[in-house]
Amino acid sequence: MSKDSIRRIGVLTGGGDCPGLNAVIRAVTKTAIYQHDLEVMGIEDGFLGLIRNRMHRLEPNDVSNILTRGGTILGTSNRANPARFAVATSPDGSPIFEDVTNRVLEHVAERRLDAIVCIGGDGTMTGAADLVKRGVRCVGVPKTIDNDLMHTEITFGFQTAINTATDALDRIHTTASSHHRVMIVEVMGRNAGWLTLHSGLASGSDVILIPEIPYEIDSVCRHCEQRSTRGKSFTIIAVSEGAMPKGGQQVVEQIVKDSPDPIRLGGISQVLTRQITERTSLECRATILGHVQRGGSPVPADRILGTTFGHQALQLILDGQFNRLVVMQQSRITSVPIEAVAGQQRLVPPDDPLIAAARAVGTCFGD
Ligand code: F6P
Repeated sequence: MSKDSIRRIGVLTGGGDCPGLNAVIRAVTKTAIYQHDLEVMGIEDGFLGLIRNRMHRLEPNDVSNILTRGGTILGTSNRANPARFAVATSPDGSPIFEDVTNRVLEHVAERRLDAIVCIGGDGTMTGAADLVKRGVRCVGVPKTIDNDLMHTEITFGFQTAINTATDALDRIHTTASSHHRVMIVEVMGRNAGWLTLHSGLASGSDVILIPEIPYEIDSVCRHCEQRSTRGKSFTIIAVSEGAMPKGGQQVVEQIVKDSPDPIRLGGISQVLTRQITERTSLECRATILGHVQRGGSPVPADRILGTTFGHQALQLILDGQFNRLVVMQQSRITSVPIEAVAGQQRLVPPDDPLIAAARAVGTCFGD
């Protein structure tokens, strides 16, 4: 397809919200209109907007003053997968799924969308890869505070979430040291420990527990007690929501039945609090940071990344390079096929230099 046959593009944000989404929407819209005289349609609530035909024209004014704003001006959904969409509920309460991709194809044709910029994580890229197979031209932009997308060393939103989690861990020091307690802070990240590892290292947490390194509770307790006998009257533990004991299971907070990725993790900090309280004489408290980590204004690094990723997505469309995901590899922006990341997760490797650095300064990983 030639550059001249692109007249109108769509843009959508799918999956959980994340700081920096608006920077991408702004970059895509302004570049498309100012540089290439294209029309831009903002698709509402991710794939739900394509399923329900809800979208509206975006003009430069609509994306003014949004660079500093968290969330997404387009709305999002982490339940709408066209290939497996919950259309009704059966008498036992379980969702009835249907493939509604044909509806999406009709709406794409009706709205004359020549290509769609899909901004999201692995769930969104899985949905985009399905649409690609049905002939919709998509270009992906990777987002997630979890930083767990394959083939890209960074996703926007991650740096802002590190700041928020680190700030929380820094603040927890006050109560930990004043009350001589073990304070456990639960950090998001699903099955990947990136956010906990980075914020744990940045805050000087004494114990860091991540899903990639299953822990032994006795080892964690021993570390807390040894600190107290060495005159350190408190311990800060940064724990991933997906962390698990050796041979054990993750703690599931809820199952969102109609979501493509139904498991929501949460509660490991409370389990650890009970176990440490039972096994030691130390006083222990848990704090779950939750969605605070997805909120707030994006830090400059995420605004910059969002803007450059958005610009690059448009470049791919104009170069006729469809069905590709913008990625960062060895600090350079490039692209990979969307299907290369669909349904996969990038986990912390055991030989990650951050783990070695943390161990070197005395951090316990519970192993
Ligand atoms: O993927 C981003 C994330 O915030 C994860 O860290 C977390 O496990 C999940 O989303 C929470 O999802 P929800 O917003 O549906 O509770």
